[in-house]
Amino acid sequence: MKTAIIGAGNLGLAIAKGIINSKSAQSLYITKRNISSLKELETLENVFLTSDNEKAIKNSDIIIFAVQPRDFEEILSQYKEIITQDHTLISTVAGFSTDKIEKIIGESRYIIRSMPNTAISINQSMTCICANKKGKERINLALDIFNRLGHSIEIPEEQMQAATVICASGIAFWMRLIRATTQGAVELGFESKEALEMALHTCLGAAGLLLSSPNHPEQEIDKVTTPGGCTIAGLNEMEHQGLSSSIIKGLLASYNKISQLAKK
Ligand SMILES: NC(=O)c1ccc[n+]([C@@H]2O[C@H](COP(=O)([O-])OP(=O)(O)OC[C@H]3O[C@@H](n4cnc5c(N)ncnc54)[C@H](OP(=O)(O)O)[C@@H]3O)[C@@H](O)[C@H]2O)c1
Repeated sequence: MKTAIIGAGNLGLAIAKGIINSKSAQSLYITKRNISSLKELETLENVFLTSDNEKAIKNSDIIIFAVQPRDFEEILSQYKEIITQDHTLISTVAGFSTDKIEKIIGESRYIIRSMPNTAISINQSMTCICANKKGKERINLALDIFNRLGHSIEIPEEQMQAATVICASGIAFWMRLIRATTQGAVELGFESKEALEMALHTCLGAAGLLLSSPNHPEQEIDKVTTPGGCTIAGLNEMEHQGLSSSIIKGLLASYNKISQLAKK
């Protein structure tokens, strides 16, 4: 597939790295207005760095937009004449509905809206996608693209905001949980490097156990909590201090904020 990424900032560059790692594009155009920050990709074969969006769009079949919401409308309006039915458009722009995109470029275009996260740079993004009516014809193509870059599912568009909180902001939330574990491990006497290594691999192991079985987290917890033992003592203290409640409240606060921002 000939792919273009319009807007190689934090997310666009992460997507570019994921596509390059998985060798999933025949050619890859990467654009931003100031391309000097993309030097690390300069020498790669079939990767073209440019600030010429028109050239990138004309030479690609899949166009991934990773620009800020404030720039997206202007970019769509500017290039709507060269966006054709041969293109599959994938937007990563948070809070920008397929309806709004259709109003600018027309409902006959294949429009996919996606919510990946920055782990896309190492092909481990959890990506949620939805599409306009026309785009649904190419939903499997989009799922295929994002499955090469991690794991993806199709969800109703009304849930994209909630997915932004769980998956995109989720990266930050999980980082804090990992950091807290390392802080505790240092207090228990481990060097910070060791503490991080132990936290990361335990976290990976916990996720791996659930990914490889249909078990609910509580079933795996039962296996490691001896009655009267140290694990249940720790877990209960964490709950007395509001662990689950604070996480749920944080997710809801994040969702309320994104909903307010979307109304502006
Ligand atoms: N970061 C995340 O984890 C994440 C996750 C999911 C979704 N998103 C969504 O992804 C989008 C990008 O987020 P981000 O964090 O990557 O933002 P960002 O770092 O600000 O990147 C946006 C990039 O767009 C480029 N740009 C602006 N105008 C352009 C134009 N006319 N042509 C080509 N490139 C242009 C900018 O570079 P120049 O100034 O050099 O042009 C900038 O590097 C946002 O809409 C956000 O909602 C982000």
